[in-house]
Amino acid sequence: MMRLIGLAWATAVCWLLGAVDIVESVAYFTEKPSYIESCRIYEPEFTKCLTRSTQKFMNEVINGIPELLESFGPMDPMRQDQLTFKQANSDVATISANLTELLIRGFGNMVIKESKVNKNNFSLQDKIYLPQMRLDGKYKMVGHILRVPLRGAGKIYIEIDDLNILVNVKTRLYEKGGFTFYNVTDVRVQLDVGKVRTNLENLFNGRSKEVERSTNQFFNDNWRDFFEAMRPLISETVERTLMDLLKKTFDLIPANFFVEDIPNSLELYGRKTQMIT
Ligand SMILES: *[C@@H]1O[C@H](CO)[C@@H](O)[C@H](O)[C@H]1NC(C)=O
Ligand SMILES: *[C@@H]1O[C@H](CO)[C@@H](O)[C@H](O)[C@H]1NC(C)=O
Ligand SMILES: *[C@@H]1O[C@H](CO)[C@@H](O)[C@H](O)[C@H]1NC(C)=O
Repeated sequence: MMRLIGLAWATAVCWLLGAVDIVESVAYFTEKPSYIESCRIYEPEFTKCLTRSTQKFMNEVINGIPELLESFGPMDPMRQDQLTFKQANSDVATISANLTELLIRGFGNMVIKESKVNKNNFSLQDKIYLPQMRLDGKYKMVGHILRVPLRGAGKIYIEIDDLNILVNVKTRLYEKGGFTFYNVTDVRVQLDVGKVRTNLENLFNGRSKEVERSTNQFFNDNWRDFFEAMRPLISETVERTLMDLLKKTFDLIPANFFVEDIPNSLELYGRKTQMIT
């Protein structure tokens, strides 16, 4: 349904050691799609414009931009098959946990509350609201949560209401085919939640259904503490998801299409630091 407007195979040249030319082909948009509203960073109301533009763009991503569907997949539900491994140590938890075969629901209803770009270093900051996010997957866990010793493996869900995500994105600008692109180098999130519900099946390797039920009840009664225990795992899951999405988006779409007057990276950083691949 969504038509590709101007995806081209273009070449970028890299001067390596000042002598060797390396030519690489990368697919990206060379014409601005109509669903992207451009904003000007050196004009007033930039943040207001970019917030509106980002929301419109995300709506399009949710509906399905073919090139992103191909590289990233659908937004809602969204699959994250990679294994997550995290050792979390805090007052409320000492756990080693793996989440796999994750299915993430809720990004289809995302509200962009604010979208900013820093004028000095072109880092991005977004405030995103999800009425609900739900993670379904398989877990493997060893450790303690809220002083409950755990050793189990099975199905898990974590459902979060009123999730506010503050996203900080580090970028480095680079040139490709006469356009300026964002290289996304780091994504960090801060999560703020309204309410959390959870269920972990097979908590004690199935030894006692009764204890499993009462433990899940205990986690739900103490959901704030449960969330604090799981925060590193959930934050990392959201960070990895956004990193993947932003990288694929900004590999495909020049930064100029979003920020029309973004400076040329050669001028911003000085020519000698530029390596374009
Ligand atoms: C999680 O996966 C890692 C890497 O495969 C493994 O070393 C670790 O023991 C696993 N943790 C649990 C709790 O199964
Ligand atoms: C960019 O600058 C802002 C404020 O000047 C700062 O808070 C932020 O950490 C900087 N980001 C990077 C990636 O250096
Ligand atoms: C983007 O940044 C990463 C890490 O800093 C670097 O390895 C990579 O070459 C950069 N990509 C481009 C296209 O500049």
